[in-house]
Amino acid sequence: MQIKCNILDRQFQMYQSEYEEAALRVLRSGWYVLGNEVRQFEEEFAKFTGRKYCVGLNSGLDALIMSVRALGIGAGDEVIVQANTYIATVLGITENEAVPVFVEPDKYFNMDADRIEQAISDRTKAIMVTHLYGQASNMAPIVEIARRHHLEIIEDCAQSHGACFCGKMTGTFGIAGCFSFYPTKNLGAFGDAGAVVTDDEAFADKIRMMRNYGSKVRYHNDIEGINSRLDEMQAALLRVKLTHLKELNDERKTLAIRYSEGITNPEIVLPGLRDGADSIYHQYVVRCSMRDALQKALEQKDIQTQIHYPIPPHLARCYAHLGHKRGEYPITESYADEVLSLPLYTGMTFAEQDYVISQINAWTLEGKK
Ligand SMILES: Cc1ncc(COP(=O)(O)O)c(C=O)c1O
Repeated sequence: MQIKCNILDRQFQMYQSEYEEAALRVLRSGWYVLGNEVRQFEEEFAKFTGRKYCVGLNSGLDALIMSVRALGIGAGDEVIVQANTYIATVLGITENEAVPVFVEPDKYFNMDADRIEQAISDRTKAIMVTHLYGQASNMAPIVEIARRHHLEIIEDCAQSHGACFCGKMTGTFGIAGCFSFYPTKNLGAFGDAGAVVTDDEAFADKIRMMRNYGSKVRYHNDIEGINSRLDEMQAALLRVKLTHLKELNDERKTLAIRYSEGITNPEIVLPGLRDGADSIYHQYVVRCSMRDALQKALEQKDIQTQIHYPIPPHLARCYAHLGHKRGEYPITESYADEVLSLPLYTGMTFAEQDYVISQINAWTLEGKK
């Protein structure tokens, strides 16, 4: 049996007629960028998250960059960010010439709230929290620390559409919730797309202007903006998927539970779930001290896996100028060496998953050599 990391057409086939109807509606409308579909998606997604405003954008990275910029954070400012996040979170900071200050993750792969305060300086302006792999971060202490130090919270929700901390949706704990709708995300479009959600009207207005060349009224450019407009096609398709997001997330949760119950190989460390947090299992990430050997062995059995992420941002070549060294963030670095994302996708059959489970359980010390 061949198992891929993801089979995107299965989620298309699941609601094919609804997607086709939405796509045709857009094609026939004669209006393709920032129109009625975008407006309705923004309303529906704001409602889904429980926030007042949603601004649809081109990508999750734009959502991060523009949120930092709209807060006036720039050169000389510092933003706290977890060290094991995806590079895009950090780019959201450095694209504004601000400095990322890395904090080690906890055992749930999210920002370790106990390490935040020691990273705060008089130049710190914000805490950027990524709800990594779909699990909500430990938001109670993070909100409390931010409040005490007068820091903004920007949440990177690219992997956490619908995940909650103590019943409150990720993306609602600070000024901005930044979402990616990249096709592989739990709420994935059929191309690039993203959004910011907020309760702050002035902040929403600013992002709305920034996404369209800094203008509210055509050709009246009040601030220096960019082009990060969400198109009608993606918005219409996202509207369809949003109506099914709960069942899509539930399906992933079921698959995650099956992995957790089925994998019994003592060499594998299963992902944990923090009390009060839930996960939408954007990824199901295990740890293994002989990760590379395990990945290779699974590959030989036709099972594709991925590593999220093999090089932490502080060691990425693009950030060599920041002067970080290996050994500076040992927990992050050990995760980079040990994490492995198992196949988990919409439409994955139990038979496919059982094959993965059986191959992982069959993998022995001998297989490591
Ligand atoms: C944690 C995280 N942040 C940000 C992004 C950036 O999103 P996009 O690819 O839509 O720019 C991604 C997705 O790729 C992500 O996983």
